[in-house]
Amino acid sequence: MSNYYKTKILQPCESTTQIAANLLKKGELVAIPTETVYGLAANALSNEAVKKIFTAKNRPQDNPLISHISSIEMMDFLCDEIPESALKLAKAFWPGPLTVIVKRGGKVCNTVCAGLNTVAVRMPNHPVALDIISAAGLPLAAPSANLSGSPSPTTANHVFNDMNGKINLIVNGEQCEVGLESSVISLIDKTPIILRPGFITKEQIEYVLNQEVIMSDSAMCENLGNEKVLSPGMKYRHYSPKANVTIINASTQNFCDYVNNKAKAKNNIAALCFDGEEHKLDCYAIVIGKKDDQNQLAKNLFSALRELDEKNIKTAYAHCPNIEGVGIAVYNRMLRAAAFKVVNLND
Ligand code: TXA
Ligand code: MG
Repeated sequence: MSNYYKTKILQPCESTTQIAANLLKKGELVAIPTETVYGLAANALSNEAVKKIFTAKNRPQDNPLISHISSIEMMDFLCDEIPESALKLAKAFWPGPLTVIVKRGGKVCNTVCAGLNTVAVRMPNHPVALDIISAAGLPLAAPSANLSGSPSPTTANHVFNDMNGKINLIVNGEQCEVGLESSVISLIDKTPIILRPGFITKEQIEYVLNQEVIMSDSAMCENLGNEKVLSPGMKYRHYSPKANVTIINASTQNFCDYVNNKAKAKNNIAALCFDGEEHKLDCYAIVIGKKDDQNQLAKNLFSALRELDEKNIKTAYAHCPNIEGVGIAVYNRMLRAAAFKVVNLND
């Protein structure tokens, strides 16, 4: 039986940092803001503490977690040797939205790595997260602080909706600046592989490593079960609102015509659209951002997906972003929200 907690949301300040650090040292869970999405944190060195994350999220046991650090020295908790490529990436992008996967060592517990001999590490670029990690003096295992399967939380309220009663404390850090989870790159093989696209792009990574990097097939295609799953998280249905989402790859005119046609026949439908398109749509329209501002689309996508559920929408049509740069990460998350359903109206 798991405990029932009266979940508090506290504003970040010195005393909140101390309260959070003490809870974490005692093996409790704390939801913390990062620049990507909110994380559900626990002491990464304790099997018992990390198991509570899996219970609170209802997360499959074979899906490993990212360990968060606040200094390069803290890598010693997690691995015996830091590969040259990891040091280069850390120097270029940390603190920031990039997770590296390296050989596991140090004292990281088995539950964090889901039994694998590798470990995922990142240094988040958020002052509140960095303060809490430093005050605890521990690497913190932290997946996104949502219930497994639902969209990642980008505000403290999103976390509260999913975790109320399941955890003691949420630290409020306002809306996350990036809005999508970190890019995940495996440095285990000779050629690095991006397992999850994010705000740090393939081109940026290739430039820093001065070598070619592979984008994993599972980033853009449905894994049909016959390919070895490199990142266990990729095989699960993800980021899904209750609404049935379809991505529409089309010009503004064709997107609006298509959706308006559907709206004639059905209530309870909505569009996830670009700025300006809302005036041309005859249904509930959620603006994700400007078509050409990939960072804005990234920042707002998950709250838009959550809004569909708040408004009890049954069917939603999402306008396909440009699939380049950060747009690759936006499309990757949208594809999972849509269970890979895409209608192509472009020739
Ligand atoms: O931005 C983020 O990365 C956020 C914030 C809280 O830092 N965290 C996050 O964690 O998104 P999570 O657990 O939702 O996603 C971790 C991903 C999963 O897809 C998991 O399968 C993969 O990283 N992963 C973790 N350890 C791995 C390992 N050793 N080998 C391969 N994949 C791993
Ligand atoms: Mg997650």
